[in-house]
Amino acid sequence: ALVDIEGTYGIVVLAEGHRELIAARRESPLIIGAGDGENFVASDVAAVLDYTDRVLYPEDSDIVVVSENAVTITNNGKRVKRKEERVPWNVEEVQRGGYEHFMLKEVHEQDRTVEDTYRGHISLIEPAVDLGIETAGDFEDILLVACGTSYHAALIGEYLLGGLCGFPIRVKVASEFDHRHLRLDNTWVIGITQSGETSDTLRALRGAKASGCRTLAITNIPGSSVTRIVDEIFLTQAGLEIGVAATKTFLAQLTALYLLTSSLTTDIRTRESLLQNLRMIPAKVQQVLDGEEQIAYHARRLSRYDNAFFIGRGINYPVAMEGALKLKEISYLHAEAYPGGELKHGPFALLRQNTPVVAIASRDDTYEAMLTNIKEVKARGPWVIALAEEGDVDIEQFVDDVIRIPQVDPLFSPFLNSVALQLLAYYAARERGCPIDLPANLAKSVTVP
Ligand code: AGP
Repeated sequence: ALVDIEGTYGIVVLAEGHRELIAARRESPLIIGAGDGENFVASDVAAVLDYTDRVLYPEDSDIVVVSENAVTITNNGKRVKRKEERVPWNVEEVQRGGYEHFMLKEVHEQDRTVEDTYRGHISLIEPAVDLGIETAGDFEDILLVACGTSYHAALIGEYLLGGLCGFPIRVKVASEFDHRHLRLDNTWVIGITQSGETSDTLRALRGAKASGCRTLAITNIPGSSVTRIVDEIFLTQAGLEIGVAATKTFLAQLTALYLLTSSLTTDIRTRESLLQNLRMIPAKVQQVLDGEEQIAYHARRLSRYDNAFFIGRGINYPVAMEGALKLKEISYLHAEAYPGGELKHGPFALLRQNTPVVAIASRDDTYEAMLTNIKEVKARGPWVIALAEEGDVDIEQFVDDVIRIPQVDPLFSPFLNSVALQLLAYYAARERGCPIDLPANLAKSVTVP
C-alpha cells in the first residue's frame, strides 16, 4: 500500500488480532523507542522518554515491524539495521518541575541553555571558537532559511554576520524559498530549525542541496530529519522543549549564531569581544528572570487590550517580531511588530488610546531615533511601555512604564529583551486564562508543507 501513497507521512498500523505494529515514514518524523520487553512507535522522542532513552530513527521508505521483543526493519524488501542511539535527556525534561507551565519552566532554564550551547566550543585561554564544522571554505555568501521563531533568530543572524563578518547575507522564510528563483552559486545555505522536522525548512534545504549548495543545519534535536539532509550539523543544547512556544530553543539558536559570527570574523578583537560578552549572558539572563514580578505586573495591564504593537530598530527589530509572535501565539491577543520608523507609513492610523505599544529602546546607535518614534506614538495617546537599560533615566519622561533590562553590550541586547518579552507574553496569556503550553491550532513540530 505504501507504494500507492503520495505525499509525506508517518504512519503506524495495528492489525486486529496481531501483536505487532507496522510503521513507516516519508519525510515526516517517526521514532522507535527500544525498551526491555516493550518497544514503542512515536513521532517524537518526548513521548517515550518515560519508558526508555534508547531510540532508533527509521529512514524514508523503511518498513518497521515492532513487537514486544523485536524491531525488524526492511527497506525495499531487504533487512537493514538502524543505529540505536541514546537520547541525551532524562525524564525530568518531560516534567514541569513545580512550574505551572512548561513554557515558564523553559523560560527559566535559559541561563543554562546559553551556557550549555557555547560550552565546549570556546576556548578558555584564547579567543578561539570550534563549532565542529568547516567554517573556512569557498562560499561567497550565506543564505539563512527558517520559519517562525527560528526565522527571527535568522534575522538577528543576518544583522550579526553581515555587520561583523563582511559576507553578503540573505534570509528567507523557508516557505518562500524557491531554489529555481534564487542565485545560489557558491552559497552556503544554513537552515535553522529547533525541531529539525519543519517541513518547509526541510524542503528548502533539499532544494539547496539539489542546487549544489553546501548546507548546514542549526537544530536542537539529534537524529531529527534535518540531520539526514544537510552536510553538517550544529546542535544547540537547549534540552527538550515541550511548550509549543519556542523560548529556550530561540536563545540557544541566538547563541549558535553569535558563535558562528565569532568563528567567521577575521578580526581577532571582534572575536574576543563577542566571546567575552557571550560569557556574561547567562548571569544577565538570570537578572532579567529576577525581575519577573515587575514584568508580570505590566503583563496584567497588557492582557486587557485586544491589539498591541511592538516596535524595535536595528538588531532589536526581529526581537520585536518575536515578542509579537509570542504574545499572539499564547495569549490570542493580536500583536504586530514594526520597525520604529515604519509606523508613520500606515500603522499610525490604528494608534489610539486602546492600542498599547511595547517599545524596545536599547542604548545602541538607534536609541535617539527610537526616542523620536516613541514621542510620535505617545502623541497619539496609547499606553507605551519601554524595555530600557537600567540607569536610563531619560526614557522615563517619554513613556508610561519601563521594564528594566540589565546593562549589556547593545549587540547582545536581543538575548535579554527576548527573555523579558517571553515573560510579558506568558503572564498576559496566564491572566487571560489561555492554555499556554498547547495553544489552539498550533503544533510543536510543523511537519506539513
Ligand atoms: C514559535 O513559538 C513557534 N512555535 C513556531 O513559530 C516555530 O518557531 C516554527 O514552527 C519553526 O519551528 P522549528 O524551529 O522547529 O523549525
